[in-house]
Amino acid sequence: MIRLPGLIDPHVHLREPGATHKEDFDSGTAAALAGGFTAVLAMPNTQPPLTNSASLAQAQAAAKDKARCDYGIYLGAGVDNAASAAECAPLVCGLKMYLDQTYGPLRLDELATLGDHVARWPVDRPMAVHAEGRSLAAILFLAALHARPLHVCHVSREVEITLIRAAKEKGIQVTCEVTPHHLFLTENDLPQLGEGRGEVRPRLATAADQDALWANLEVIDCFATDHAPHTLAEKDGENPPPGFPGLETALGLYLNAVHEGRMTFDDLIARTHTNPRRIFGLPDQTETFVEVDPDALWEVQATQMYTRCGWTPFEGLQLRGRVRRVTLRDRLAFADDQVLAPPGFGVNLAPVTQTENQ
Ligand code: NCD
Ligand code: ZN
Ligand code: ZN
Ligand code: ZN
Repeated sequence: MIRLPGLIDPHVHLREPGATHKEDFDSGTAAALAGGFTAVLAMPNTQPPLTNSASLAQAQAAAKDKARCDYGIYLGAGVDNAASAAECAPLVCGLKMYLDQTYGPLRLDELATLGDHVARWPVDRPMAVHAEGRSLAAILFLAALHARPLHVCHVSREVEITLIRAAKEKGIQVTCEVTPHHLFLTENDLPQLGEGRGEVRPRLATAADQDALWANLEVIDCFATDHAPHTLAEKDGENPPPGFPGLETALGLYLNAVHEGRMTFDDLIARTHTNPRRIFGLPDQTETFVEVDPDALWEVQATQMYTRCGWTPFEGLQLRGRVRRVTLRDRLAFADDQVLAPPGFGVNLAPVTQTENQ
């Protein structure tokens, strides 16, 4: 048995408020614990989106009652909340800006709006962006102009990881994350996945893009699942929404890659614990660790999962390396395939000025 620190996932969609038939703070954090994650940062593209203190309070109340592992919640950057956003900064783990088409209503098109958010969001609080291709170049330039750190979500293409490498070499304060699906799947998997189930943003990329991610592992600060559950009926229906679940397959995929010699345990711990904790300024979770059996062989099966969405793009895959027990703040939270931490056990890891933390 090998012991890892509690994994931190800086990018999950728990769908609450508004779409709890896909997931909620209970099922999503159960999935997190089953996957070896003891902290998750929840995205604001909910219904309503989390762009003001009222919607934020709704999500915080649900999380406080239902979360089984620790969490933070992002504020969403909207077209008209650049001024008021800063007031919410002490309550959230960061600001999320969407620059490209994806699931949900949050999308910023105007350069002036982007500039406003970059200028006004507190420079010492995290700012995360969905920015592909040219959008990435635009937001990197704005962040550099304002000398404010930027975290780039789900980098998927060679041209993007190359740009981030170059920005880092120039001393620009940029960090980034890559998802397991972009590390382990490509567009060549689309025929087998099927049209609707293969929908995800950023799209699955080419084998050359995937190779570039692995070749630039040192540029990748974090692994993030971008756990984005949609039900099978939605994925197989008309207008399938983009997004893959990922919390319960990520660590198995990473451990399998360690077994195959594609990265080391230290590479894994840096990207799933140390770096996300530093980038998002999260407090250390004391007496928190994950016990894994690095040799256990298992087959990915959606029917065995805690996520509510009912499917996985990795169905049937054989992996080596499995979570056995998770201890969170000295309490056994997961063991023998059972989630033991009850709803409400999770605490908000966002800045401690928050009453939610008591
Ligand atoms: C995400 C979702 O479903 O909320 N979908 C996705 O394809 N990644 C949105 C996002 O992260 O862009
Ligand atoms: Zn995104
Ligand atoms: Zn996402
Ligand atoms: Zn630690």
